[in-house]
Amino acid sequence: MKRILTIITLAAILLTACASSSGNGGTKPAQTAKQVGVAKSDDAAAVARQSSGEAQEETSSKQQSKILVAYFTPAENGELDAITSASKVNFWGEDMGNAQAMANVVAAYAGADLFSVQTVKDYPLEYNDLADNAKAEQDAGELPELATAVDISSYDTVFIVYPIWWYTMPQPIYSFLNEYDLSGKTIIPVTTHEGSGLADSVSKLTELEPNATVKDGFSVRGADVGSSQEDIENRLKEQGF
Ligand SMILES: Cc1cc2nc3c(=O)[nH]c(=O)nc-3n(C[C@H](O)[C@H](O)[C@H](O)COP(=O)(O)O)c2cc1C
Repeated sequence: MKRILTIITLAAILLTACASSSGNGGTKPAQTAKQVGVAKSDDAAAVARQSSGEAQEETSSKQQSKILVAYFTPAENGELDAITSASKVNFWGEDMGNAQAMANVVAAYAGADLFSVQTVKDYPLEYNDLADNAKAEQDAGELPELATAVDISSYDTVFIVYPIWWYTMPQPIYSFLNEYDLSGKTIIPVTTHEGSGLADSVSKLTELEPNATVKDGFSVRGADVGSSQEDIENRLKEQGF
């Protein structure tokens, strides 16, 4: 019975999520964030080179930030054109996943670097297929192999931005937490959802990264992401960024 109720509730959430995202897509700041991280298929030395600052000097003269925004969105892990409108928002003149748009706002405002957590496998982006795929992956406790890597050692604060999937973090975020030791760092979860808010994020992050300080973070409904820039910036201001 509990399982049936869970499925009915999630179906309602997904139907809500299928409503188009609204809003003006925000105002692109003059200074946007720098993407860091490399494809794992690249030369392994590239990750080390990047952390030493060499690679960054090639792309930017800005000092390396102490803050990292690591995010996962299915839109960057499948064919963006195939994604239903709910999970695609036109933001700063570009089509993005909801979590990606939020990550861009957080990184630009906090002066952080941006890292896209990407998986070797592609996700199906049609909602029902994605829902089934994500549920099967979660039930199996699968940790999908990551295709991108970052040297995390120099960051002292890590925002982790993702959509809630089946009342928890998407499995690729569990892969990220399995791969990176965030001991001694401050973690701030930021989620997008259609009713579950942060779900179990704080307790799971605390369990998986016991030597990190996990803050409460915040969340934005998927349908509101397009008009969330000011709200996100206000929340960051409240938290001292
Ligand atoms: C597989 C899947 C499972 C989801 N499960 C939940 C859920 O349990 N609770 C919730 O509030 N929203 C849930 N959603 C809605 C998404 O979290 C929401 O639409 C989010 O804004 C999508 O962000 P994205 O564009 O970065 O994928 C789910 C969506 C998908 C695709």
